[in-house]
Amino acid sequence: MFAISDHITYVGAQDDDIDLFEGQYPLTQGISYNSYIVKGDKIAVVDSVDIRRCQDWLSSLRVVLADRKPDYIIVQHMEPDHSASLEAFMDIYPDTTVVISAIGAKMLGEFFPSFRYHDRVMKVSEGSTLDLGGTVLTFYAAPMVHWPEVIVTHESRDGVLFSADAFGSFAMTSSPGATSEAWAVEARRYYTNIVGRYGVSVQKVLGKIKGLDINIIAPLHGPVLSGNLAYPLGLYDKWSRYEPEEDGVLVAYASIYGHTATAARYLASTLESLGCENVVLLDLCRHDVSYAVSEAFRLSRMALCAATVDATVFAPMAVFLDHIAHRNLRGRTVGLVENGSWAPVAARKMADKLVTMTDMKVVEPAVTLHSAMTDADTATLRTLAAALLAE
Ligand SMILES: Cc1cc2nc3c(=O)[nH]c(=O)nc-3n(C[C@H](O)[C@H](O)[C@H](O)COP(=O)(O)O)c2cc1C
Ligand SMILES: [Fe+2]
Ligand SMILES: [Fe+2]
Repeated sequence: MFAISDHITYVGAQDDDIDLFEGQYPLTQGISYNSYIVKGDKIAVVDSVDIRRCQDWLSSLRVVLADRKPDYIIVQHMEPDHSASLEAFMDIYPDTTVVISAIGAKMLGEFFPSFRYHDRVMKVSEGSTLDLGGTVLTFYAAPMVHWPEVIVTHESRDGVLFSADAFGSFAMTSSPGATSEAWAVEARRYYTNIVGRYGVSVQKVLGKIKGLDINIIAPLHGPVLSGNLAYPLGLYDKWSRYEPEEDGVLVAYASIYGHTATAARYLASTLESLGCENVVLLDLCRHDVSYAVSEAFRLSRMALCAATVDATVFAPMAVFLDHIAHRNLRGRTVGLVENGSWAPVAARKMADKLVTMTDMKVVEPAVTLHSAMTDADTATLRTLAAALLAE
């Protein structure tokens, strides 16, 4: 619990013993489920928390509300990490009005089949306002950021944007450097993997909030953002337009016995020796694919190096390609390195996937290793490195 402005208190919960978020994203710093209390003459609670931390949240509410009762609970997003504790909340505060989008209201009945408070539901849509007395909340639809029912909320008195999952991070609220690169690392992995597919929708929301007076961005995960907001806003603009943040090369590899890995390392050091200052070497077999997706969004170029397995590309690379294609990543320059001991086809399979994506430019030559790396291969890898940087 802490004040984020004169009239708004953070009442979210920290989850430091969760291993996977949404059943697939490994967490190294835990995560928070953020919730806020806005005090005007009336009181609104903004979002609930994951059921894992329901009791923590209810305790915080009790302390901050003291002898008052909440008038409204704003449900910006029905996904369970933000709404699973809603029914327990209503059982304690049954007179509260649930403020939610029309699609959210439908989902509410689906998630809580025996919900007893449908008569307390107030539906809001684009531009709806809620006057709390002393401050006004305005709601904006944010469909597909990250579900169809999402709304974001602007608070007028202190200039707070409750941004739902946007500007969230795989981190707890206390994690340092809220508007610094330290924040960006896990905020990028969060955005690119969870919302990355919906760049067009994010652009629409960025357009809507452009003219608003915003001093604080209060997302549903990770730190509350204040200070240099141009930094996170600029990153969101880039990510949602699929523009790289920096010129550089992600060298991602999937190797069974290590020969393709050797080629990838050689390629990475050659790129560095040619003056590229931003080379990230990433073993797809040993790192969760979400880290590779994040780096693929950050950097302008990729070198994809993979062994052939059963007449196709080795699975960790196929998975990575599926992930970036699914997230609509586009406009990258790509070099290909394959390996095979009798009939290498990994490069063709990777190229086949890349042509289904938008504006992916594959540079020549594709490098084919036959088992171990030879002197001839090192020469071709140097040619590929130069071509990759030349584009
Ligand atoms: C299960 C399995 C299936 C394979 N299938 C093929 C194949 O279809 N075509 C081929 O040329 N090599 C195939 N290979 C051989 C590897 O692609 C080859 O040895 C390659 O050099 C491995 O590179 P690495 O040292 O980076 O793991 C297969 C290997 C394994 C383990
Ligand atoms: Fe979500
Ligand atoms: Fe979320």
